[in-house]
Amino acid sequence: MSVTVRVPAKVNVQLAVGGARPDGFHDLANVFLAVGLYDAVTVEPADSLTVTCTGPGSDQVPLDHSNLAARAAIALAGRHGIEPHVRIHIAKDIPVAGGMAGGSADAAGALVACDALWGTHASRDELLDICAELGSDVPFSLVGGAALGTGRGEQLEPLDVGGEFWWVFAVADGGLSTPAVYGEFDRLSPHAPPAPVASPALLDALRTGDVHALAATVTNDLQPAALSLFPALKATLDAGTSAGALAALVSGSGPTTAYLAADEAGAQRIAA
Ligand code: C5P
Repeated sequence: MSVTVRVPAKVNVQLAVGGARPDGFHDLANVFLAVGLYDAVTVEPADSLTVTCTGPGSDQVPLDHSNLAARAAIALAGRHGIEPHVRIHIAKDIPVAGGMAGGSADAAGALVACDALWGTHASRDELLDICAELGSDVPFSLVGGAALGTGRGEQLEPLDVGGEFWWVFAVADGGLSTPAVYGEFDRLSPHAPPAPVASPALLDALRTGDVHALAATVTNDLQPAALSLFPALKATLDAGTSAGALAALVSGSGPTTAYLAADEAGAQRIAA
């Protein structure tokens, strides 16, 4: 028997970042939107815990127990007093270290898949708890859709989305380390940033499905830091804007960049 779970990538349509907290994390107002780009996580019974990975960038993915999917399996098994003996296979399509929560998606997928394989019947709250232990973006990968994340991004409030949005993503050569981008954010912020708040205009744009209003309100406070560490992204963003993107921004901590198109034809033009 095997279980396969498909988990979407995310883009942050608003990423408002506050000052560094005593625990080293930053308070966020983080508006997550799941996008139609997926990793698939397959689990099957085995004599020990193993991880394999295929797909773009899979050579960058650790296959030991530091892999977030392996850590998810270990955490679930530990809570239920069983051995985490499982073969985990990750078929990647989400850019690795790209700011689209690919590792978080794999963790959430492994958790749901192992829960089904082992019949552990964890409650949603227990799964969300484990997700929050694994990483700030993992709870969102479990719930999907659209949500406002506060705290370090792990406290979620679901959001309504009233339409369909067309996005194009440009994958960069190489990845960016999330802690390094937050570190650069701190370095570039001479004063303590204000407390992060979700933009009412942006939440309205999502609710009404108004792409032009969404384009006018997307923001990413980590973008200057990502551009400082990866200056070539500026030319990519400019190219997307020249190709007709209504908005062009760094996805999360980057280096993937995201382009919001007016419609499918516009997305095709930007992608080309
Ligand atoms: O939670 P996650 O493992 O994704 O965080 C990776 C790193 O990103 C943290 O160790 C921290 O340096 C930074 N981070 C942060 N504030 C957040 C989320 C992440 O400073 N809200």
